[in-house]
Amino acid sequence: MSRTEQIQSELSDGIFTLRINRPDKKNALNLAMYQALADGLKQADRDDAARVILMCGVDDCFTSGNDLADFIGAPQAGPESPVMQFLTAISEARKPVVAAVNGTAVGVGVTMLLHCELVYAGCGATFQMPFVNLGLCPEAGSTLLLPRVMGHQRAAELLLLGEVFTAGKACSLGIVTEVCPDGDVLATARKRALQLAAQPAAAVRLAKELLKRDYAPQLRETIAEEGVQFMARLKSPEASEALQAFMQRRKPDFSTFG
Ligand code: COA
Repeated sequence: MSRTEQIQSELSDGIFTLRINRPDKKNALNLAMYQALADGLKQADRDDAARVILMCGVDDCFTSGNDLADFIGAPQAGPESPVMQFLTAISEARKPVVAAVNGTAVGVGVTMLLHCELVYAGCGATFQMPFVNLGLCPEAGSTLLLPRVMGHQRAAELLLLGEVFTAGKACSLGIVTEVCPDGDVLATARKRALQLAAQPAAAVRLAKELLKRDYAPQLRETIAEEGVQFMARLKSPEASEALQAFMQRRKPDFSTFG
């Protein structure tokens, strides 16, 4: 079955696959795509035939994150906004989530991985969380999850400098399970998803719930607080300069802001 052209979904062999497919914009996520992802995740979580959720992009791109044009328009806020529905759905999914990352993963393309159980990345994949570079703040619970996974300083380096990093670094930092040859990523992720689908489903769900038990309430609260701050930052002069600079294909100049 196909959800939309830009977010395709399919259920086979117990694996509910969500494929991000907007290659002309490097798989940037617009509001309709967030909504389709949220709906797909919720459907997969409800459907007994779906035992594992698999997220992937196209050959050379996982996703370049939020569509920057939507940041300039009037983005929707609140828990019912497509972005928040997506973040709630992925962070609270009861079923295991596997990701296959080829090419570029930027912004929410990286932070969504923190909610996955297994992440396979191509050796040529690159990662970047440029929230601060854009005058914004980190989202998707990343200010809680990144330091848990790798410690404060490593998380601060990734979030405050916002540089591109390799799949090897992502793996050594603990946000990628395994680095594979670029051509093998989807097959490897699918093989592991099939393995998960063959496990006793209720035991898998319980183990996942218990793994997250001590921080689940705090995660919910962090995602909400980051969301509030993020929306406020979108109106800041720093973000305005950064977003205009992206559209005009120039380097931003933050020197006049205190
Ligand atoms: N939002 C909207 N459009 C985006 C986009 C995004 N996040 N990422 C890429 N695009 C668009 C580009 O504007 C360009 O559109 P055009 O062909 O109509 O001009 C097209 O996708 C191709 O992007 P381009 O920059 O030419 O590709 P590249 O291979 O040189 O670089 C990226 C790819 C992803 C590194 C670069 O596009 C980028 O940095 N994008 C912004 C990522 C970002 O800041 N995301 C938000 C994080 S919060």
